[in-house]
Amino acid sequence: MTATPSRTGARVERLPLARFTTLGVGGEAEVWFVETHEQLQEAMEQPYRILGGGSNLVIADEGVPERVIRLSGPLAERDLTPDPHLSEDPWVVTGWVGGGVPLPGLIRQLQKLGLSGLEGTVGIPAQVGGAVWMNAGTRYGEMFDGLHTLEIVTPEGTRQVTPDDLNWGYRDSGIPRNHIVTRVRLKLRRAAPEEVLAKMDFADQARKGQPKMKTPGCAFKNPGGVSAGKLIDEAGLKGSRVGNALIAPEHANFIVNLGGATAADVHALLGLIRDRVPVPMELEYELWPAPVDA
Ligand code: FAD
Ligand code: EPU
Repeated sequence: MTATPSRTGARVERLPLARFTTLGVGGEAEVWFVETHEQLQEAMEQPYRILGGGSNLVIADEGVPERVIRLSGPLAERDLTPDPHLSEDPWVVTGWVGGGVPLPGLIRQLQKLGLSGLEGTVGIPAQVGGAVWMNAGTRYGEMFDGLHTLEIVTPEGTRQVTPDDLNWGYRDSGIPRNHIVTRVRLKLRRAAPEEVLAKMDFADQARKGQPKMKTPGCAFKNPGGVSAGKLIDEAGLKGSRVGNALIAPEHANFIVNLGGATAADVHALLGLIRDRVPVPMELEYELWPAPVDA
């Protein structure tokens, strides 16, 4: 299908979702590339899902029946100019950063500008909106370390909240699913660019043992601060394979696509892990659609 404009001008196209995910799995859906709040409200008139960087998603081989919304154009742009009314040395509050902005490039830009606070999230291949929605992070920092204001859009309208309004924690923003993080303002501290770079390099060292293949990152959240990878490893599951999906030999909490893996292969490995690891663990991956017994 060729792209057609919606009533308000959003580009709408039926596309394979695999190309939008780091796992490289997922069938087709109707993708809405929205650039304005008006287009977003139109897209939300029917059942929808919001797609970010696709770096935490396992999407069914059949695709999904809902509209899939992607923030584009101005909703993927950034204004990092300090707001003179809200910034007080050494703190800087930026202009709006769109939910569709790729996080890795933003982190590099903040380092060059000498703005500190989010460098602990280095190496997370997300978009800003997706990373905020699940408060992505590492043991060196998380998204909520650098947020001042969040703009959230639902079919009922648009509201602005601060982190204090949300019940956020480890890998959790407290924002309900499908409430769309359209833009955020960042609160960061002025620092020497070299200082920020040194912190980024240090945080990046923790990734040396992570696999380099197609993957949606860690499958399970760490239960009670214990590494889920260590627990899966201790259950003897490293290297387990179903179809073309593999529990990575480098780090057991990563499932990788050897090429041609299906969502069913990944689900089977997730089931194997649940059966064999004696500690209850919460899934970090988002499954589209969620299986009935998830
Ligand atoms: P997606 O995968 O597209 O979506 C994930 C969820 O967020 C979905 O429910 C989606 O609907 C929702 N969502 C997306 N955009 C928005 C929005 N604008 N508003 C509201 N909801 C939205 N994660 C970590 O926390 N720490 C790590 O160190 C880390 N390392 C990784 C390393 C690799 C190699 C990979 C592939 C992944 C890694 N991840 C890590 C996982 C992943 O990057 C994070 O979960 C990230 O937050 C997902 O963001 P995304 O934009 O890709 O969201
Ligand atoms: N370990 C094993 N076997 C494994 C994996 C890990 O024994 O297969 C051991 C390691 O040797 C180490 C300990 O477990 O002693 C911790 O491992 P690691 O440093 O890799 O950290 P992690 O807790 O497994 C977390 C995050 C990652 C993040 C890294 C670095 C979660 C679920 N995972 O992993 O986040 O990149 O720390 O900060 O919180 C993600 O969320 O997708 C993700 C990749």
